[in-house]
Amino acid sequence: MGINFKIDENLCIGCKKCVTDCPVSIIGFDKVPFMKDETHCLKCQHCLAVCPTGALSILGKDPKNSISADMINLDSSELEKFIKFRRTVRKFKDNELSEETLNKLIEATSYAPSGHNSKKTFLTITASKLETDNFLAFMMREFEIYLKSNTLPDAYSFLKYVHYQYKKKGDDVTFRGAPHIIVTSIPKGLTISYVDTIIALSYFEIYANSLGVGTVWSGIGRYFFEILPNLKDYLKIPEENSIGYVMAFGIPDVRYYRTVQHEKLNHKILGLK
Ligand SMILES: Cc1cc2nc3c(=O)[nH]c(=O)nc-3n(C[C@H](O)[C@H](O)[C@H](O)COP(=O)(O)O)c2cc1C
Ligand code: SF4
Ligand code: SF4
Repeated sequence: MGINFKIDENLCIGCKKCVTDCPVSIIGFDKVPFMKDETHCLKCQHCLAVCPTGALSILGKDPKNSISADMINLDSSELEKFIKFRRTVRKFKDNELSEETLNKLIEATSYAPSGHNSKKTFLTITASKLETDNFLAFMMREFEIYLKSNTLPDAYSFLKYVHYQYKKKGDDVTFRGAPHIIVTSIPKGLTISYVDTIIALSYFEIYANSLGVGTVWSGIGRYFFEILPNLKDYLKIPEENSIGYVMAFGIPDVRYYRTVQHEKLNHKILGLK
């Protein structure tokens, strides 16, 4: 399928911004821009985004359907406060998110950057608390079977505690009782692809929090995926994919009244004393 590069010559003012912003320099110019080599197009749509007059269309996208720069009114100090205020949530209400909210989350996450704009991260999301609980129960059963093989590496022995809490106390340390989980995965063998799956979840987390949806990264869930291959099949994750990361989410059942006060990460700004 071609990339459908089109210029509206009535709107083009010949500024060449599309030419100079294309990251792979495949747009030429002869009175108007033209496509030199569409096989190398990243499909990043920078050319569409940078055109001041909306003269350029690519991939069948009409520039009129984009959010225009003057529609964005983001106060950076509010964003800074918001970033500082976000906390990992470990207590959730049972209430499930609507399909509309899930779709909003998926849409925003789709705007996360990815290496070479590959956009290969696959999102698997549970739609209900029952689905999440059933998956957790399956995971615990699979773990019990696995334990019988006596091959659990020492580094994973804390999973026995997680399992004990679930079996003996009914505590869900893995997903913290959240009604939903999201698992990212990506086709094996892509360079820098694992990073894409993490960035996608970071975008997901920030946008979710802006909607009042709390999140917890589940490193524990990720560990279970590493030793229990059947989990992937249970969630119908494409066979050719490897797991990125796991996050649980839902409406928080905890309220934070203020930010924490973190010290800055260790850093050095080269050139400054
Ligand atoms: C990669 C990653 C894995 C994590 N795994 C877990 C986990 O398995 N269980 C959990 O309760 N929290 C988990 N967390 C949450 C961290 O413990 C939490 O981010 C940290 O304590 C700081 O708290 P804050 O997010 O409220 O600032 C994880 C966080 C990250 C980034
Ligand atoms: S989509 Fe990106 S890579 Fe393709 S022509 Fe436009 S700017 Fe260049
Ligand atoms: S950025 Fe838009 S107006 Fe400028 S040359 Fe490209 S198509 Fe024409």
